[in-house]
Amino acid sequence: MPLHPDPTICAALASDLTAAGFTAEALRNAWGPVGDAAIGRGLRGPAIRALAGRDDALATLARMLGLGMPQPVTAVDAALPRTGVAGLVLLGLAAIDGDTARPIALIRPQEWSGEADAGAGEWWIASDLDEAALEGALPTDHVLGVGGASLTLAGLQLPAPTGRVLDLGTGCGIQALRARLYADEVVATDISTRALGFASLTAALNGVDGLEVRHGSLFEPVAGERFDRVVSNPPFVITPRGATAGGISVPAYEYRDGGAVGDDLVRQVVTGVAGVLADGGIAQFLG
Ligand SMILES: C[S@@+](CC[C@H](N)C(=O)[O-])C[C@H]1O[C@@H](n2cnc3c(N)ncnc32)[C@H](O)[C@@H]1O
Repeated sequence: MPLHPDPTICAALASDLTAAGFTAEALRNAWGPVGDAAIGRGLRGPAIRALAGRDDALATLARMLGLGMPQPVTAVDAALPRTGVAGLVLLGLAAIDGDTARPIALIRPQEWSGEADAGAGEWWIASDLDEAALEGALPTDHVLGVGGASLTLAGLQLPAPTGRVLDLGTGCGIQALRARLYADEVVATDISTRALGFASLTAALNGVDGLEVRHGSLFEPVAGERFDRVVSNPPFVITPRGATAGGISVPAYEYRDGGAVGDDLVRQVVTGVAGVLADGGIAQFLG
């Protein structure tokens, strides 16, 4: 189901999430330290048990958006009075099955902190349902949420004002949001149109402007342009193919290799980045 990051509905959803106290700390308290640690390992059982018996707005949203569990339409309508399930459906984040609202994506709060002048805060990051929520294999166009590698690069990004930043392979948009704390403008690219939908939706949900998304591979979408910084968390855990895969056929996950073989993608990022860096520009990426 395609995403439609309508700014008005995103603003309504942001108001609802604020009113429900949908913060990282509130969720940690709601599903407890054991539930929180288990979610970090891709297990949601302890969190589900910790939330059992609660039908307040925070618990409904924790189950629906935090864990990806279907919830009664009436409960979600009550938890999101401005948006309603209808708003989630319009955004492409949920579907309705009779009396049940079925989540299509996760929204999780993500704490951030910058240098003194940038302060600290939280973003709501939207991404596809994870394996725990799907209870099965991921589709090939899966858009990842924030993981360990995402936080490593976000934490490495230079905390100093800059002009233009390119986020190559933006996924859910976490690096672009982090860059925009210090940059005048950010261009976020991806080969996945679904990823660009999530990055736009995440930006709108957090009221972040100055972030432009562009579709295409590697440096194609920004050919002829220059950036003061380039950040990228490209696919570097590559699916084995052919003989190295021992004859096992593995789908081509966009987030994992984007159809590239071996270290091709990282090699092309390393060798091509100078072509889009302004004089004195800096590239920061994982590999
Ligand atoms: C590991 S994810 C990183 C997502 C996000 N930037 C983060 O830090 O969490 C890699 C992203 O690169 C994208 N990607 C894969 N091949 C690409 C290519 N050739 N050009 C641009 N983006 C690509 C994938 O669709 C995916 O969104």
